[in-house]
Amino acid sequence: MSETQRLDFPKNFLWGTATAGHQIEGHNDKSDWWRFEQEGKVKDGTKTGRNIDYWNRYEEDHALMSDLGYQVFRLGVEWAKIEPEDGKFDMAAVERYRKILQSLRDRKIQICLTIYHWVLPLWFAQSGGWLREDAVDRFVRFAEVVVKELGEFPDLWVTLNEPSVPAAAGYLAGEFPPEHKNFREYGLVMNRQMHAHARTYKLIHDNVSKAPGGGPTMAGVAYAFQWIEAYGSAGLPGLYEKMMARIFSFGSYRGWNNAAATGYAPFPFGREIIPGLKDSYDFCGVNYYMRNSLKFDASKKDTGFVDMEAIPPGIEKTQMGWQIYPPGFNKILMYVWEKFKKPIYITENGIADDVDAQRPRYLLEHIAQVNRAINAGADIRGYMQWSFIDNFEWKEGFSKKFGLIECRHDDPELKRKPRPSARMYSEIIKENAITRDIVKKYAPSAADGVFGDKWKA
Ligand code: NOJ
Repeated sequence: MSETQRLDFPKNFLWGTATAGHQIEGHNDKSDWWRFEQEGKVKDGTKTGRNIDYWNRYEEDHALMSDLGYQVFRLGVEWAKIEPEDGKFDMAAVERYRKILQSLRDRKIQICLTIYHWVLPLWFAQSGGWLREDAVDRFVRFAEVVVKELGEFPDLWVTLNEPSVPAAAGYLAGEFPPEHKNFREYGLVMNRQMHAHARTYKLIHDNVSKAPGGGPTMAGVAYAFQWIEAYGSAGLPGLYEKMMARIFSFGSYRGWNNAAATGYAPFPFGREIIPGLKDSYDFCGVNYYMRNSLKFDASKKDTGFVDMEAIPPGIEKTQMGWQIYPPGFNKILMYVWEKFKKPIYITENGIADDVDAQRPRYLLEHIAQVNRAINAGADIRGYMQWSFIDNFEWKEGFSKKFGLIECRHDDPELKRKPRPSARMYSEIIKENAITRDIVKKYAPSAADGVFGDKWKA
């Protein structure tokens, strides 16, 4: 019997890692998240402060990426640094970003640049944030500076990161700033971000005629996809779970993506045609981490009587409490492919694991699902692992460690130490494949999930 020895990826498949400005840079003191942290709203009480100081140590980090053979880096710019006061742009901050991007360019590391990754300037947040009448104009004014000043660098542009998350967590669940719980506002913030994306997409194309490598300008959204299913309880609760899975998957990703595909924003996202939204994706950015199995629970009033965190028997969870379900990744990739028929980049996928016990297997089993989707016909062009380095995990603070590289924000020297997974990832990149040897060396228990039937979708 011949056994598959390797899962090969297409030639020129792009491998790299992802992060976001506020999560690694430090010194973002004119922002709404900074204030949120000072107010003690982060669960473990940590504050970003100088963070792991990527702002000053980027050379060291880029050198590490080169050594490890990582080919693309997804990073962000911070609005609050670039426009710390309404209409006043800090050109020194822009200059710093230019240096950072140039340093990546010098090392031949491709650049995926996120313009908005959840954090707002304080002046904007305090005057209403996304609820301001002129929110979209203000956002686009900032984006214009980024595009005009830094437009020569990005190989890939991400206009917005996971727009559903700040909308739902900030305006519906009351978990993120500005801690509102208002369904109408949630719909409005989604609507505003659709406008913001469509206009920023146009702005990019109006100003940047080609990518640095000479290819077409590539812009899109990095969208948060969970695979959402009913838990499968018996009887009436089971029917209820099915109905809620439909509603939640609509709110979470189907609604936005229907709008992006057709140009029409359905209820509750405005019931209008958003000018420029249709065909505003050159690629689809997919962020995938987990499955949610919605389980009926009469005590969970806030989440519509479903337990979002229920874990079915036999399924493992991460330190975030998220269930590990690799086939969901494949299902999402095929959903995105069928819906848009556009190139796909995985803009995030990863796991919080401070001791690197689950990560090697998680990565292997998820990357294997990407391989399956490619073999099924999806045009997937790259994979960016979240995250390059340990960073500030929002409301969870620094205690959740997503990095391939370990770094303690409270270490005076902020030493960077690659975890075994970082090396494993280098080997995958070098081979442009997952091989039996890599699996054997780093996570033998993943063999069935990678090469066998365990996670056949
Ligand atoms: C998605 C977000 O884009 C990123 O900021 C976050 O750290 C990761 N998921 C992990 O939760």
